Amino acid sequence: MKAIIWTNYGPPEVLQLQEVAKPVPADNEVLVKIHATTVTTGDCEMRNLRFPYWVRIPMRAYVGLRKPTRMRIPGTYLAGEVEAIGKDVERFQVGDAVFGSSGMGFGTYAQYVALPEKEAIAIKPASLSYEEAAPVALGGLEALHFLRKAKIQPGEKVLINGAGGSIGTFGVQLAKHFGAAVTAVDSADKLEMLRSIGADKVIDYTQEDFTQNGELYDVVFDIIGKSPFTGTVRSLRPNGRYLIANPSGLLQFIRGKWASRRSSKRVIFEITSPKREDLVFLAGLMEAGGIKTVIDRRYSLEQIVEAHRYVETGQKKGNVIISINAGGQAVV
Ligand SMILES: NC(=O)c1ccc[n+]([C@@H]2O[C@H](COP(=O)([O-])OP(=O)(O)OC[C@H]3O[C@@H](n4cnc5c(N)ncnc54)[C@H](OP(=O)(O)O)[C@@H]3O)[C@@H](O)[C@H]2O)c1
Repeated sequence: MKAIIWTNYGPPEVLQLQEVAKPVPADNEVLVKIHATTVTTGDCEMRNLRFPYWVRIPMRAYVGLRKPTRMRIPGTYLAGEVEAIGKDVERFQVGDAVFGSSGMGFGTYAQYVALPEKEAIAIKPASLSYEEAAPVALGGLEALHFLRKAKIQPGEKVLINGAGGSIGTFGVQLAKHFGAAVTAVDSADKLEMLRSIGADKVIDYTQEDFTQNGELYDVVFDIIGKSPFTGTVRSLRPNGRYLIANPSGLLQFIRGKWASRRSSKRVIFEITSPKREDLVFLAGLMEAGGIKTVIDRRYSLEQIVEAHRYVETGQKKGNVIISINAGGQAVV
């Protein structure tokens, strides 16, 4: 099968298309013929290990000290079709259309992947294309996890910082689904798209600091971890919740605990792990038309370097898709 091999830590060119053996599912695994995967900012950070030290060290230990020797094929999110199952698999059948995440096993930048059936994979709704389904296990699951922690009440004011990307575009729509009035913060090019998916108000962070305009919020969901800590806590109403999806380190964690003790405001840090039941919830919502996947560009597996280069520019609106097994045409 064709797969992208991660030959070294570094720029997009370390990703190379190669012919490798097709995986054989173990007794507890399903073999998925992948139709779509997605290139995330997280994939780019992983490729060159652009993480804070407290993430970089364990990641290097997990993936390979000098080179990514233990994880050869990158990619985490997928949608495809079950082509074969191991003898102990109970939840899936050959021919099922599925979507989800390969977790820390990676391997979705390929024509096939073998996954334990216990991973966060679920049946794809028929009304959703493979391309629309592939990014849901990142953006949808992350946003759902944090926004549920906030226990949003209808009419509450929610601000989402870094709203124009994979997690944010799902976050805006989910917060609206929970009845919030949503302010979306991102750069100018993304604001029109954010209005089109339901944001009530938009702020260009290059022109305006949302912590300095006098507005107060019930919930601030900071997806990229770039909100100024003190100013953001000050921008919360009493009983406000500050959700931090990308904490910068121990100091921020300590300040969060301290701020939560001293007032009715709560600072919530979480590291999420994908859950199948949440995927099923999102599938139902998407089938009912409640939320949709924002797709910016599509690439083929052969164009993986271009796809990574584009995601790294920061211009991506919503999600970038890699279409696989579809003839491999250049699609952009
Ligand atoms: N498994 C994963 O991949 C995973 C899981 C959870 C969390 N994360 C992390 O969560 C972060 C967000 O993920 P994502 O996939 O949603 O990223 P994304 O698609 O790149 O979206 C991030 C958005 O934030 C905007 N932004 C950058 N700086 C900003 C600032 N100072 N204020 C407001 N907006 C700003 C970016 O726009 P501009 O570039 O135009 O400024 C971009 O639209 C990433 O760092 C990722 O590593 C990753």
